[in-house]
Amino acid sequence: MNFPNFPKDCKSLLCKYLTKEVFEELKNKKTPNGFTIEKAINSGVKNIDSGIGVYAGDKESYDVFAPLFDPIIKEYHGFEKSDKHISNFNPKDLKMTNPDPSSQYILSTRIRVGRNLADFPLGTIISKEQRDEVEKRVSDALKSFDGELSGSYYPLKGMSKDIQEQLIKDHFLFKEGDRFLEAAGLNRDWPEGRGIYHNDDKTFLVWINEEDELRIISMQQGGDIKEVFDRLAKAVDFIQNSVKFMKSEHLGYITSCPTNLGTAMRASVHIKLPKLSRDMDLFKKITDKNHLQIRGVHGEHSESEGGIFDISNKRRLGVSEVDCAYDLYNGVKELIEVEKSL
Ligand code: ADP
Ligand code: ARG
Repeated sequence: MNFPNFPKDCKSLLCKYLTKEVFEELKNKKTPNGFTIEKAINSGVKNIDSGIGVYAGDKESYDVFAPLFDPIIKEYHGFEKSDKHISNFNPKDLKMTNPDPSSQYILSTRIRVGRNLADFPLGTIISKEQRDEVEKRVSDALKSFDGELSGSYYPLKGMSKDIQEQLIKDHFLFKEGDRFLEAAGLNRDWPEGRGIYHNDDKTFLVWINEEDELRIISMQQGGDIKEVFDRLAKAVDFIQNSVKFMKSEHLGYITSCPTNLGTAMRASVHIKLPKLSRDMDLFKKITDKNHLQIRGVHGEHSESEGGIFDISNKRRLGVSEVDCAYDLYNGVKELIEVEKSL
């Protein structure tokens, strides 16, 4: 592979940090699973509008291709090579009340964590047989849930298009045909090995074999961040009793995209801010200050509709799970105060 040519206006962290020198240093390297720099950068090379543009193939990718991953991790999470990642997923340390008790602004709250299994490569290079094995191990583990979290596993293969589309529209299921995932190798053999587990109320869900092997999700209507967090903590604790997650001392939970390393947690609200969103500079100033990201109402790379936005924590590495939830809480409180004052 030759050094890729990026257009002048390319804004991805890939084109910022993949210098000719870094490329020369990495171009002949391989991880034990055979992951190469060509595979790592393909998504950002094919999608020049990427924000990040790189994916990992296994835990070792983050070491073998560190000259590219490290500066991207530093810029995205503010996490230095010398920093330590410390986890705290203890609900007792999250003390907060609902920031919008009358549900005037917050429509719904969702917190997810990404996880991958210790014994397999990441989805970018996993084989079909390994992916099917992940699906089996995880869906078997989920069968032992009881009470509020008990539910059923629905494989994507064989699901009717109507049901699939309704689940996507209602924000429960991952979308199909994402071009960033496609170029990263994450859509190979679709829909084999993919599926969704959920309880009856759809307040606890697990996506299997999308961008990460597991996305464990807790969500509900309204703004009770703590209730959503507590449910997720309980569920994650339970799942890790039966499957071993991929983890590193330095980077926490290992995920296919470097933006999800560490806690792999994205805590979000769907929030209606019709006045503030007329002044996007002020809106962005508040979200930047609070380490928050703005997404559209149908998730990443989607547009906002009717003044409703998806607001979530941006940092996930070098901060704890409790910190991620507080980033969301503090930011949302400020956004609501400003909206009220306008
Ligand atoms: P992820 O959270 O897994 O990184 P996306 O940004 O694609 O991925 O979001 C996945 C789905 O979750 C989308 O349908 C999105 O609308 C939905 N979603 C995210 N946050 C919320 C929320 N607070 N309430 C309801 N749905 C949400
Ligand atoms: N690869 C995509 C980009 O660079 C997504 C990056 C972050 N989001 C994610 N789902 N991993 O824009």
